[in-house]
Amino acid sequence: PQVKTQHGIVLAKYKGFWFNSNLFQSLMSLHKHFEAKDTDIFLATFPKSGTTWLKALVHTIINRPPSPLPENHSGEEIIQSPLLFSNPHQLVPFLENIRFEGGENYYSDDVNRIQIGSRIFSSHMPYQCLPDSILQSNSKIIYLYRNPMDVFASTFAFVLENGFAKLTSVEEEFQLFSNGNQSYGPFWDHILGYWNQSLKAHETDKKRVLFLRYEDLKKDPNPGLKKMAEFLGFPFSVKEEESGMIERIANLCSFENLKNLEVNRKGETETLRFKVKNSSFFRKGEVGDWKNYLTPSMAESFEKLMEEKFAGSGFAMEMH
Ligand code: A3P
Repeated sequence: PQVKTQHGIVLAKYKGFWFNSNLFQSLMSLHKHFEAKDTDIFLATFPKSGTTWLKALVHTIINRPPSPLPENHSGEEIIQSPLLFSNPHQLVPFLENIRFEGGENYYSDDVNRIQIGSRIFSSHMPYQCLPDSILQSNSKIIYLYRNPMDVFASTFAFVLENGFAKLTSVEEEFQLFSNGNQSYGPFWDHILGYWNQSLKAHETDKKRVLFLRYEDLKKDPNPGLKKMAEFLGFPFSVKEEESGMIERIANLCSFENLKNLEVNRKGETETLRFKVKNSSFFRKGEVGDWKNYLTPSMAESFEKLMEEKFAGSGFAMEMH
C-alpha cells in the first residue's frame, strides 16, 4: 500500500511502517550488506525524540577515561571530549546513512571491517524492520522515547527551520501525525516494537533492549546514565561515582552546554540525506513545548487516541 502526504511525498508500507523511497532503499541495503557484531551498540529513536542527546551521552560513557584512573589524574580529561569539536551526529552515524556500494560516501564503505572496540550506530528504524544480522547478534540496543506531542512540536519546528517541506497548518500536520502517516510511522507501533523487546530477556538471560524516556532523563539524567553504563557493560565504579564522573558527563552533554558549543552553533551536518543546520538539533530541549502548538482540546482527543493505541500492551504513555 501507498499513501501520498500533504507534502507530495509518496510513502510505501513495509512490515506495517511507512517509508519514503530513499529510506526504503537504505533499509534494503542494510538488510543485504550490514554485518552486526556482538559488541555493537545501537541507539534507536523515533525522529525528534532526543537522538542527538542520546548520541552524546552514550559516546561519552563509552569513551570516558579508564577507571581506576592512574594516580594524579582527576578525571578532568573528559573536558577534552570529541564532543567539543564534533557534532554528535558526526561521532555516531545513522545506519540509514551508510552507503555500502561505493560512490560519494559520507561514512566509510568499510563499516563492516572496523574491528576495534564497540561501534556505536543510531537508527530511526522500527524494531520490526531491523536487519536479521542485528536481530540475531548479541548487540545492545538503547531506545529513547518522548511524549509524542512534544515530538510533533519538535518535528514541526525542525521542518520549518530547515525548510524541508512546505508545511500546512498545525491542525493538518497534527492530523497527519496522529494518523501515523510519516516516515517510520506510526510512532505508537515504533514504541511498542522496542517496548515489547525490552520486556524480553535475550537467550542467555541478557536484556537486549534498554528502554528510556526523554522526560525522565531531563528530570534527572543520573539514574539513566547509570542504567546505560551498566547495560552496556561499562558500569561506573564506586570511585568514579565518588569523583563526580556521572555529573560531569551529564553536564558535558546537557542541552545548554552542547547548544552553546561553537561546533553546534554553526555549519551543517548531512544526515539521512538531508543537510541539516547543526543549530537546529538544539532548539529548546524542554518538556511540554507542545502547549505552544496544540490546543487543550487537540491534546485531549490525542490522549484518548493514545489510550486506544497502547491498550493491552502494558505500556502507558504519560502525557503530563
Ligand atoms: P526540541 O525541538 O523540543 O527542542 P533529535 O535529536 O531526535 O532530532 O531530537 C531533537 C530534540 O532533542 C530537540 O527538541 C532538541 O532541542 C532536543 N535536544 C537536543 N540536545 C539535547 C540535550 N542535550 N538535552 C535535552 N534535549 C536535547
